[in-house]
Parts: sequence; C-alpha cells; structure tokens
Amino acid sequence: MEEHLTVGRVAELAAVTVRTLHHYDEIGLVQPSARTAAGYRAYSASDVERLREVLAYRRLGFGLREVADLVGDPSTDAVAHLRRLRGLLLEQRERADAMVAAIDRELEARAKGMTVTPEEQLEMLGAKLYDAIGGAYPATRRTDPRIAAQIWDALGDAETVLNVGAGTGSYEPIDRDVTAVEPSAVMRGQRPADAAPCIAAAAEHLPFEDQSFDAAMAISTVHHWGDPIAGLRELRRVARRVVVLTFDASSRGWQDRFWLTRDYLPEFAGVLADFPALPGMADAIGARTEPVPIPWDCADGLFEAYWRRPEAYLEDPVRRAVSVWTRVGPEPERRAVRKLGDDLASGRWAERNRELTELEAADFGLRLLVA
Ligand SMILES: C[S@@+](CC[C@H](N)C(=O)[O-])C[C@H]1O[C@@H](n2cnc3c(N)ncnc32)[C@H](O)[C@@H]1O
Repeated sequence: MEEHLTVGRVAELAAVTVRTLHHYDEIGLVQPSARTAAGYRAYSASDVERLREVLAYRRLGFGLREVADLVGDPSTDAVAHLRRLRGLLLEQRERADAMVAAIDRELEARAKGMTVTPEEQLEMLGAKLYDAIGGAYPATRRTDPRIAAQIWDALGDAETVLNVGAGTGSYEPIDRDVTAVEPSAVMRGQRPADAAPCIAAAAEHLPFEDQSFDAAMAISTVHHWGDPIAGLRELRRVARRVVVLTFDASSRGWQDRFWLTRDYLPEFAGVLADFPALPGMADAIGARTEPVPIPWDCADGLFEAYWRRPEAYLEDPVRRAVSVWTRVGPEPERRAVRKLGDDLASGRWAERNRELTELEAADFGLRLLVA
C-alpha cells in the first residue's frame, strides 16, 4: 500500500495552512487521491509532487489560473517542470542581484555625499536592461504604419503629447508637439537628430505638473516598468488622455495564443510572471481596451511581428532587438531556436500552423488601453 501524508503533515512540511490545501482541493488544483479511515485528506507521492509544482509557481508570482494551466499541461512532465522552475528562479535571482548591486552603489554614493544622477537612480528599474541591449534595437524596431494609425487615432485631437518609455522614437506623431521620456541613455542616444526632445526620467515619477499634456502615450514599454500600475497612474495624472500599447497576459491560456510561446519558448510566461493583469491596468486609468492585430508583414520587429515569417526568429539581429530573448536567458533561447529550425526544416511547423498562411493580420494579445 502506497504511503500517504495527512493534510496536516503536508501543510507543516510545505509551510502553508491547511486552509490553503483545502482551497486547492476545492478548486481542483491539487486533489488528494485518498482519505484516511477517519475521512481526512491523504496525499500520495504524486499528489505531493503536483502540490510542490503549484506552490513553486505561486511563489514565483503566477496567478492561480496560470498555475492551473501550467500544471495541467499534459505535455509537461515533472522533469520539465523542474527545469522550467529552475530557469525562472535563476532569472529572478539575476534580477534581484542587479537590484541589490544598484542599491549598494547608490548607498555608497550617498554615504560619500555624492549626487546620484537620474540615470543611476533608474538603473535598477529597467533602464539598465536597455543600456545593455538597446544598441541592437534600431536594426529591426521601427514604426509600423498600421499600428501607428490605430495609436494616432486614439490620441484624438491632442496637440501636446508625452511619449513615456519613448526609446528611439517609434510611433511618435510628427504633426503634434511631442515630449519624450526615456530612462536609458543608450536609447536616448539613438534617437534621430530631429526627434522630439527627450528627458531622462521613468514612468513611475514623471517630472511634470498635473494635466500638463493633452495626451500621454506609452508603447511596448509598460512590461519593463518596475511598478506598472504606479507608472500608469502617473500618465493619468499628467495628461488628459492616455494611450497605452501593452499585452494581455491574463486571459486563460494566453501562452498558447502564439505558436512561438506555445511550442518553443514557454519561458516567456516567466518573464511576465509579475506583470499585472490587463483589467487591473485598465482600471488603474479608467481605460477601455481594443485589440491591436499584427499585420503579417509588420514593419516593427516586436516579439510577435514574424508570426507568418517564422524563419526570421532564427536570425540573431531579430532576436537581439527584442528583450524577451535576453530575459529568458541563453539556454532556453538556444533550445527554442534549435527546435524551431528543426521544425521548419522537417515541415512540422508548416503542418501545425497551416491556418496562419491565410491570414493578413492576427491577434496575439496586443491591446491598446485608451483612457
Ligand atoms: C521595447 S522599448 C519601446 C520603445 C518605444 N516606445 C517603441 O515603441 O519602440 C521599451 C522602452 O522602455 C524603457 N523603460 C524601461 N523602464 C522604464 C521605466 N521605468 N519608465 C519608462 N521607460 C522605461 C526602456 O528603456 C526602453 O526604451
């Protein structure tokens, strides 16, 4: 007879409450396969294994629905879960290390009575990543006219526009008075000479009075902010209208929307583990949301841009211009590229994604928030 652990013992070992375990049972997340003679829940070795996965994903910040999808995926066995968890934890550790290092540098500077520049203060909040990878950005990242038309339409009749997380200036309308905000010196340095003036600051602390602009826009940047909700509220504070292009990582099964995440790079889910759900972001600024379809020949090399041109993902410059690839780490990147290359060569990719060749544009979860 297989050995079972009582619910009390499992709770003690896992450092969670019995109530949590009862809840997981009730919602079908971890259902113990047996009962003791007295009718108490009893956990088998495989129940414990599933619980361990659930708790580990929870600790990494995944929501209960996302965890249910992750552990319910029949194609992921225990070893694959362990590998994925390991990768996610290493990534989290790297981020924490980078933040600790930035804090140490700032503490040291302050102790010496030195002034800390805006760049130095923002290092830990994301500018650092773009100072490291931003040089590769202009190779493939530029304004796509169809996405731009949707953004500019949402800006309405705004004459003064603040572009936050502006990068190299993509999507900045040329017929309005634009002010840009960008924390990374490397990105600021790559703005064209005739681009709008750009200020070194971060979304979470915008150096402007309330209602200074007709509109504020933030394009493909919110997922980089240290505190997305605080940043969105800042946009709301300084502008009468807010337009944000972001990503819906909250609908059920979102990881399966795009074949690249579904079949080759499941680690992308970990990159967005701390990212707020779309309804929460919309609520923070009182926004409505609209889907932003990606044209099959999208001019802006964003992560999903090459959904109908899969060979592009085999090219290094294409990947280097998208932070996701750096954030998942070199091992998942190598594995994804190798597997995709194999599937393209064998015809497996084409077989699996036949329906895409018919489409001119597709929805992969990009959303415009308009408030
Ligand atoms: C993917 S790029 C998007 C740039 C531009 N909006 C575009 O559409 O090409 C993300 C940008 O967000 C910036 N960023 C990172 N953290 C930020 C923060 N806390 N506040 C504002 N911008 C930030 C990065 O430096 C980077 O330039």
